[in-house]
Amino acid sequence: MNPANTGTQPVIGDRRLYDHFMNIARNRITTRQFDPEYEVPKEHFEMILEAARHAPSGANSQPWHYIVIRDPEVKQEIANYFVAEQRFRATLKMKFPTPNYAGLATAPGLIVVIADFRYVKAFPMLKDDDSDLNKMYIENAGRILLQSVAASTMSAHLAAAALGYNVWWVTAIGQQKAQEAMRPLLQVPDELSILDLMCFGPPLKEPYKRWKKEPEEIIHWDVFDQKKFMTDDELDVWIKKKRHKVMYKDAAKID
Ligand SMILES: Cc1cc2nc3c(=O)[nH]c(=O)nc-3n(C[C@H](O)[C@H](O)[C@H](O)COP(=O)(O)O)c2cc1C
Repeated sequence: MNPANTGTQPVIGDRRLYDHFMNIARNRITTRQFDPEYEVPKEHFEMILEAARHAPSGANSQPWHYIVIRDPEVKQEIANYFVAEQRFRATLKMKFPTPNYAGLATAPGLIVVIADFRYVKAFPMLKDDDSDLNKMYIENAGRILLQSVAASTMSAHLAAAALGYNVWWVTAIGQQKAQEAMRPLLQVPDELSILDLMCFGPPLKEPYKRWKKEPEEIIHWDVFDQKKFMTDDELDVWIKKKRHKVMYKDAAKID
């Protein structure tokens, strides 16, 4: 028996749990409009955040907090910031196919993800030193924290998918302005960062599976397979011709 096997762990190679898991991973699907009439039981929030709590994190720092938003007026205000940002971005002509953020107000489950970047201090760095070398260590620590919060958020998304919900991971907002606007509304201390929104609920319309790259496109064995490298020009073409399709179309309908 695997020494790490406490009796609650799956047996190595047992496909049954893997197949269950893959059913959830495959069916974790984004929707951007929810059934506004549905009410998420409190227990589901707790179950979803229980998954978030067990996520791995750099130095086991667990640099996250989650605010469950229950007040419809607060949801509407949050949606308003995103819609305003969406309108502002439209004036910047970034040519990014922006979704309709009005759907945020309809999310039965809305959780604000908070990061505590002060934990950079928990990582190796030089004391009282503003050298480039130390900046590199500090930047790396920031990236570790960001990945840690993403790992926790992803666990929450999978738990929501396991409960049968569709999800929506939202980051798109001019950080500084959004932080200033949302901080007092949610009484978030200045030291912390409002990072993402997690939405979930039953979809308003039938959800669809988006295009995913094939295993052979992304898996390399032993060394990076140069045939799988996309040149800058190819990437530019992809962004121009394909990006909008992969974001908003059913994978089965992409040519
Ligand atoms: C880190 C991250 C940031 C995202 N930010 C946004 C966002 O700001 N707005 C949005 O509409 N979708 C956002 N998404 C959702 C993606 O658009 C979506 O996951 C992607 O199109 C693939 O679709 P799927 O989730 O159905 O597989 C984000 C997803 C991730 C993981």
